[in-house]
Amino acid sequence: MNRDQRSAAFWQKEARGYDAMMAVAERRFFAGAREWVCSRAVGDVLEVGVGTGLNLPLYPPEVQLTGMDRSGAMLAIARQRAASLGREVALMEGDAMTLDFPDSTFDTVVSTYTLCCVPDERRGLQECVRVLRPGGRLLLADHVVATNPLLKVGEYLLQAVTVPLQGEWFTRRPLPMVRDLGLEIVETERTLHGAIERVHARRPD
Ligand SMILES: C[S@@+](CC[C@H](N)C(=O)[O-])C[C@H]1O[C@@H](n2cnc3c(N)ncnc32)[C@H](O)[C@@H]1O
Repeated sequence: MNRDQRSAAFWQKEARGYDAMMAVAERRFFAGAREWVCSRAVGDVLEVGVGTGLNLPLYPPEVQLTGMDRSGAMLAIARQRAASLGREVALMEGDAMTLDFPDSTFDTVVSTYTLCCVPDERRGLQECVRVLRPGGRLLLADHVVATNPLLKVGEYLLQAVTVPLQGEWFTRRPLPMVRDLGLEIVETERTLHGAIERVHARRPD
């Protein structure tokens, strides 16, 4: 099994325990990030790497939601969540690096804690931009390389385990790539000694 296959197998296996694991991480590290991202979503929304659908209850009621993920097991939980919320969400399996949508399909593309796992982060971001309509919003939240030197060392040590095990990186940072890809940065917030970053960017008209 190569690293990519191991990562795919990891998320399949992790699906059942994911919400409980995230509940702990959420309280300690990520508080408010999902709300920040979802409250900014408008129109036709694509969530890339929707996972078990933890963001679904947080979107404004008027947006039309599509979610994709590589893991069928994660998506099965997202489907149950959408049903229990009474929320219509188009959920489908796919790869973030080759999104199965035409150019300029969505008003908003969201990714929370997924770009850290996509094997080629730049390609994933290029795909997000491709499917955004001109003027559309890219909304991200993720753990990124910290500004605090000690924490940064901890992140490098942690990913020495998580990259081979589950394909998860702790020292990436999407923001400079988002700028390189020609998007305008509307707002950003960085918390936890720089280790968590939220980004709201706009595809120019
Ligand atoms: C840490 S979980 C985040 C899930 C969700 N976004 C959240 O905020 O809870 C990472 C997710 O990325 C998905 N993923 C990893 N690589 C992917 C890829 N290439 N294409 C689509 N989804 C991918 C995994 O299956 C998993 O559901």
